[in-house]
Amino acid sequence: MNAHATPVPATASRSQPLSGSIKVPGDKSISHRSFMFGGLAAGETRITGLLEGEDVLRTGEAMKAMGARIEKQGGEWIIQGVGNGCLLEPVAPLDFGNAGTGSRLTMGLVGTYDMKTTFIGDASLSKRPMGRVLDPLREMGVQVLEAAQGDRMPLTLRGPKRATPISYRVPMASAQVKSAVLLAALNTPGVTTVIEPIMTRDHTEKMLAGFGATLEVETDAQGVRHIRIEGEPRLTGQTIAVPGDPSSAAFPMVAALLVPGSDVIIEGALMNPTRTGLIDTLLEMGANIEILNRRNAGGEDMADLRVRHSELKGVTVPPARAPFMIDEYPVLAVAAAFAEGETVMDGLEELRVKESDRLAAVARGLEANGVDCTEGETSLTVRGRPGGSGIGGGTVETHLDHRIAMSFLVMGLAAEKPITVDDRSMVATSFPEFFDLMTGLGAEIA
Ligand code: S3P
Repeated sequence: MNAHATPVPATASRSQPLSGSIKVPGDKSISHRSFMFGGLAAGETRITGLLEGEDVLRTGEAMKAMGARIEKQGGEWIIQGVGNGCLLEPVAPLDFGNAGTGSRLTMGLVGTYDMKTTFIGDASLSKRPMGRVLDPLREMGVQVLEAAQGDRMPLTLRGPKRATPISYRVPMASAQVKSAVLLAALNTPGVTTVIEPIMTRDHTEKMLAGFGATLEVETDAQGVRHIRIEGEPRLTGQTIAVPGDPSSAAFPMVAALLVPGSDVIIEGALMNPTRTGLIDTLLEMGANIEILNRRNAGGEDMADLRVRHSELKGVTVPPARAPFMIDEYPVLAVAAAFAEGETVMDGLEELRVKESDRLAAVARGLEANGVDCTEGETSLTVRGRPGGSGIGGGTVETHLDHRIAMSFLVMGLAAEKPITVDDRSMVATSFPEFFDLMTGLGAEIA
């Protein structure tokens, strides 16, 4: 796998109208979970539409290192899982590269095993906080034998002989933390409860139920979710068709809105309500997005999206929507840079601990390209320049963050002057087809 030793810059320039129909790659969250749950469950799992990004492939490698058999036949991934409770001790450290989801969910998955597992990652992942996952695992009896300062990777876990079920209230809006505890519960006797005051993406709950886990979700009068999962279930292999990633669809979507004359169709995007906050926000800004051919496949809502160039206006984004569009703020900020008036985004504390400090990275990128913005501790306010006049001409530091790279390349497509990002390599972690799909629509990216 590419170690991304040498940064590779890319430049996007004002483009002719974007047009055409594209299918974005499979959803990253569902792809990670497909490899993990397929590798764990007894028998065969078959996956189509899997995202073959570097992050997901590393999760596949980790599952292989713990006993799963994974191979690709034609367009399908076929997994022979080990059976719940039967993962093997990996002989070498598990290298998750840039992937927060892969590493944090796997810590939950293997933490309660009576074995030693070491987790390593790239410079970005090694800076990210892992205490949020280690804290509940410690309560379940997991020992953190070694960790870098502040509970960071590289780190080594050692599970107990028998883990203890807990009731855990997730202290931040994080699907990764919720999921890590639910996965730890799979190898723990008794009932584990995860209390989720703010709902986040629910792929773990839905998919575990599909693989045969007994899981009950109750939402109380305050809107707090109580997820109870029975330990040590029998999980059996499934057939999964991974829907298109709405977080990847966001880039061609915003590009089509910003480049005058554009008319683009994005096929097969996941429309799970915990993932559609960006579409809601763009519609409020006046975006011309038609949601076509709504359907349900494998328990998930999907649709095709027709997106046409639109004059956008600034809005105040409700902070309560943040968990449903958390990965989309960088590209929303780009849309806001072309909108009339001010766009106010608040409740963004989690953006500080993504692949980069995304709040700061976005603010610096906007400033470098002539867009006026104010960065607060948990907020960002962007003052737009309709038509893109005066926007561009700068170089953006991506800090090993794929979404920063793609967001500012989208910005360059409608800006007055070209925009350069210092490194395009990380795009391959989540959206390897980005450059081909975008240039196929008519985007000028070199
Ligand atoms: C993810 C959860 C989110 C999101 C990430 C994928 C998941 O992270 O940003 O890209 O698949 O569970 P947090 O749980 O840290 O919010």
